[in-house]
Amino acid sequence: MEELKKKIITEGKALNEEVLKVDAFLNHQIDPVLMKQIGEEFAERYRDAGITKIVTLESSGIAPSLMTGMELGVEVVVARKRKSLTLQEGLLSAEVYSFTKQEKSTICISSEFIHDTDCVLIIDDFLANGQAALGLMNLVEQTKATIEGIGVIIEKQFQHGGKNLRNKGVRVDALAQIERLEKGKVIFTDEEVHI
Ligand code: G4P
Ligand code: NA
Ligand code: NA
Repeated sequence: MEELKKKIITEGKALNEEVLKVDAFLNHQIDPVLMKQIGEEFAERYRDAGITKIVTLESSGIAPSLMTGMELGVEVVVARKRKSLTLQEGLLSAEVYSFTKQEKSTICISSEFIHDTDCVLIIDDFLANGQAALGLMNLVEQTKATIEGIGVIIEKQFQHGGKNLRNKGVRVDALAQIERLEKGKVIFTDEEVHI
């Protein structure tokens, strides 16, 4: 997606070989025009997939999910992060280990909003090691709904989450794919270096 790549080149910052800072348009300040284009792009790709629900994880997944939900005319369920989980009726939970933060957290959704007849598109901002995506898949699987695919805005291919998911047969759509990062440089897959 060209508009997104341009944004990453002009406003993103590769902090080191692992982390791309996109606080200027996605994680802190949010660009609504870009979010709308992202929503249109995901909707275009999943138009014929029969999506009935979008599932995302708070907080940075919400904006692109909402725009996609608007385009597809479906509701968005936001999985919540909880440090400790007090057992609640109808609450489904999954463990997610973050390599970045080196901590385990619990994510949860209410079973009230996803049914076994639903066709779900999972959306998140980053796909790194894929732990968040796996956690979201685990939650959706507990509802017996069908997972049609996972849409991410930025995939960091060197962290292999996307490769692992695709190897399992999961459809993964990434709007920007990054082959590697160097301090101050973003190298997109199959492309020249951008400084
Ligand atoms: P994983 O799920 O793929 O294994 O990733 P990881 O645990 O490493 O990610 C933890 C958090 O860091 C997630 O956000 C994820 O979106 C984000 N993240 C991963 N790599 C990058 C990166 O290169 N740049 C930026 N900006 N974020 C990255 P989160 O903690 O859930 O936060 P948020 O959704 O509230 O923003
Ligand atoms: Na994030
Ligand atoms: Na995230």
